[in-house]
Amino acid sequence: MSTLSALRVNIDKPTANPVDVYRIHLTKLLAGLTGAAPAVIYPALQLTQTLAKGDLSLAVPALRLKGRKPDDVAQMIQNEFPDSPLLERPVADRSFVQFFFKPAPLAAIVLPLVLDDAANYGRDLTLGLHDPADHAKGRKRIVIDFGSPNIAKPFHAGHLRSTIIGGFLANLYEQANWDVVRLNYLGDWGKQYGVLGVGFADFGSRDELERDPIGHLFHVYVKVSAIARDQQAVIKEKEGQIAELNAKGEPVVALEAEVEKIRDASVDERARQYFKRMCDGDDEALGLWKTFRDLSIERYKDTFARLNIHYDVYDGESQIKDSSMEEAARVLEEKGLSEDSQGAKIVDLTQYAKKLGKAIIKKKDGTSIYLTRDIGAVFERYEKYHYDKMIYVIANQQDLHMMQLIKIIELMGRDDLAKRLQHINFGLVSGMSTRRGTVKFLDDILRDTADKMHEVMRANQSKYVQVEDPERTADILGISAVLVQDMSGKRINGYTFDMNRMTSFEGDTGPYLQYSHARLCSIIRKAEIPMDELSRADLSLLTEKHATDLVRTLAQWPDVFRNTYKTQEPVTVLTYLFKLTHALNSSYDRLNILKSEPDVKLARLALYCSVQRILNSGMRLLSLTPVERM
Ligand code: ARG
Repeated sequence: MSTLSALRVNIDKPTANPVDVYRIHLTKLLAGLTGAAPAVIYPALQLTQTLAKGDLSLAVPALRLKGRKPDDVAQMIQNEFPDSPLLERPVADRSFVQFFFKPAPLAAIVLPLVLDDAANYGRDLTLGLHDPADHAKGRKRIVIDFGSPNIAKPFHAGHLRSTIIGGFLANLYEQANWDVVRLNYLGDWGKQYGVLGVGFADFGSRDELERDPIGHLFHVYVKVSAIARDQQAVIKEKEGQIAELNAKGEPVVALEAEVEKIRDASVDERARQYFKRMCDGDDEALGLWKTFRDLSIERYKDTFARLNIHYDVYDGESQIKDSSMEEAARVLEEKGLSEDSQGAKIVDLTQYAKKLGKAIIKKKDGTSIYLTRDIGAVFERYEKYHYDKMIYVIANQQDLHMMQLIKIIELMGRDDLAKRLQHINFGLVSGMSTRRGTVKFLDDILRDTADKMHEVMRANQSKYVQVEDPERTADILGISAVLVQDMSGKRINGYTFDMNRMTSFEGDTGPYLQYSHARLCSIIRKAEIPMDELSRADLSLLTEKHATDLVRTLAQWPDVFRNTYKTQEPVTVLTYLFKLTHALNSSYDRLNILKSEPDVKLARLALYCSVQRILNSGMRLLSLTPVERM
């Protein structure tokens, strides 16, 4: 969370989007030509998909001009367009009109904006304000619940995606001037932690726990769960025998006593008692559980840091107070929303929508479940953070859970809160297995990719020998590979984890993006011109198509940022960054620096530095660590 002083600096900065200047200018001209209302024209001026189709395009039908054929209007706009200091003559393309910005004024507007303050170029600081007209009302606050692994269980692909997408959203909202709370809601409560307690008593080792808490707890959990399963199977078999004997009218007392004995000594029963002790606040049981939790969190922190993610809070299911869940149950009861069902408490949501089903909020034995704890958390977090919005980044497997949660909050009469909750869902990743088997912790995934990356780098020996710190570089590139692969499609689409493809330097991959950034940094370094000379550059010397295309692409960044805020899709940023790097990598031959005249050299350097800064900001928005050398 940012401090108040950071807030002041931020809101004092005006927001600058150079394309808006063109929109304002064009809206005036088009209102004159067509008679359409400015409020209709302005939002209809959209960025184009490719520069060949102009910088802005207008779909004439969007102007809703009665009785005039859009194609004719488009033609009329082309023919009658007045001379403009900013725009070329537009091009009519059926019912569309393409507008091209004049290169010289564009460079004069865009490059100084980037060079003066690249970190703020493109940010829209009004987005996070309660009231853009009244800064005193302050910023809005968002809680982002993401990552959220379960202690002693594997960190699976769903957690990986949640971590990546949530980390991105946190950066995005922060850039949009929101006050962001990054929250990790650990799975750290429930009977399985009784199972773990029993397992640790039987097979645990303090040393192992200290050394590798996540791995050791997982190991213990797997082992004790297998034993529990076997015991349950034996009990079931014996119960079958009892039933058979009963049917034949033969005595069963001895067998029943035997089953009783097995059951009493079983992991299942001991775990139940253990968890009950935890719930009752027993110091010993809770103390051990807390050690598991604390040590795991310490380790998670390091791993998340490798992905540039730092949580503000390590929360968890265990932290939800009984009182808030009881209060929720009381309200549901009072409003006649909950009912008894075979000893459990349920809320029948089918009357609102069939697919919502019936939600269990209390089990037969009176204990809470995942959903109950999430209900309590909505209120507790509101008390604590007064969020204006709360996002849950969870796989689409939990769509129903989230729909039930939001509906229940609404039914409780808290539509004000329900409206603030949003489930950001995503599709599944398949094929995420390691060289060591299919169970995956985040650390293993990152280690595997770094190893593979190292291999790919070694394959090019002449380059490899120039890398200063190959281990570290391989690690960063590997992480970039994982991040970019994950963000390459829309969230809702799943994908296959493909180690070979994602670590390649060819194609739209993380390593390619890093390579483009490092190469650019190296060119800038070799120019050996002090940065403060850039402001003297004569930007009118940037006349080649490759140069003007780069300037045009840089002009789009603020719009891309704004679109991203709307779509909440990392791919919106990534697509832009690949466009930018493709344009960049094809321009080096045409826009040479070292062999150019001093004036041209300085102008081109100003352009390259601008590209480097935007590329850098964009990569950071996606949680990548841009490398300057490789
Ligand atoms: N620990 C959960 C799981 O692994 C994810 C928690 C998501 N957050 C929440 N508030 N339900 O499935």
